[in-house]
Amino acid sequence: MALVDSKKMFKMAYENGYAIGAFNVNNMEITQGIISAVAEEKAPLILQVSRGARKYASMSYLRAIIDVAVAENPDIPIVMHLDHGDTFETCKQCVDDGFTSVMIDASKQPFEGNVAVTSKVVEYSHAHGVVVEAELGQLGGIEEDVVGADVDDVEKFLADPNQVVEFVERTGCDSLAVAIGTSHGAYKFKKEPKLAFDRLEEIGKRLAGFPLVMHGSSSVLAEFKDLINKYGGDMPGAMGVPEEAISKAVKMAVCKVNIDTDLRMAITAKIRQVFVEFPREFDPRKYLGPGREAIKNMVKHKLHVLGCAGKAAECM
Ligand code: G3H
Ligand code: 13P
Ligand code: ZN
Repeated sequence: MALVDSKKMFKMAYENGYAIGAFNVNNMEITQGIISAVAEEKAPLILQVSRGARKYASMSYLRAIIDVAVAENPDIPIVMHLDHGDTFETCKQCVDDGFTSVMIDASKQPFEGNVAVTSKVVEYSHAHGVVVEAELGQLGGIEEDVVGADVDDVEKFLADPNQVVEFVERTGCDSLAVAIGTSHGAYKFKKEPKLAFDRLEEIGKRLAGFPLVMHGSSSVLAEFKDLINKYGGDMPGAMGVPEEAISKAVKMAVCKVNIDTDLRMAITAKIRQVFVEFPREFDPRKYLGPGREAIKNMVKHKLHVLGCAGKAAECM
């Protein structure tokens, strides 16, 4: 089976109350770890490529790796998605490169500017059979002292339910990332996790039937945080979105959940462990291999949290 877009996946996810895992890929081992997890769990998959990944690995290498994954797993629907496209030109390039889904993230622009660039991306992408994710609100915390927002003006960073219907109608986007207090990376909250579920619920009601997306959704799993800290790392205050919060969001029209940090921490934890336990080791296969295996096991676990394990066939 060739790469697919996310329309069918989101329809099934929305109707049946689960979400598709969108995992960031930067190299072969990360991709293989994710692929072997979805193959074993029979789950639909969104592989997402950031601008940084395109720069690091080069698109031709990433594309070749993804093509092999698709060819070897004909019973798994796989989307190749651009994560956080910043301009029309970046999105156009990815459409031309064969992506089946792109994100235009113009969320830092005022509403009208966001509408304008998103509409332009939608027009070009749809003409080429590619779906578009857009974003409203900016990622950041809603607690005091957290990343991305001052407590005084925190509200202005969150997605505004009063804007969502107009935004979707005017742009024609296929899914919408809504800022509800998450942020990228391993330090999402300083005290305790807090998300704006009231807003999420309200947005879900106003956009009935429409798939929402949650960025910054890594959980910063204790297993990997502890290994990293034990084996020479220094991430004591790292904190992510609890998995119960992810499950709750999935029941509120969130059909795509973005995970990168948990992949990074899994592979890093295992590499650190090998380096400390076997200081004479210098064969990359001996540390990248365990890293890849850790990614596989972590992703398998996530597929159950998201509820998409076993759903590959119905998303084809
Ligand atoms: O959007 C954030 C993702 O974790 C991608 O990160 O831009 O460093 O590849 P990156
Ligand atoms: P995390 O940093 O929480 O993994 O978020 C990833 C993400 O949102 C990619 O777009
Ligand atoms: Zn993101």
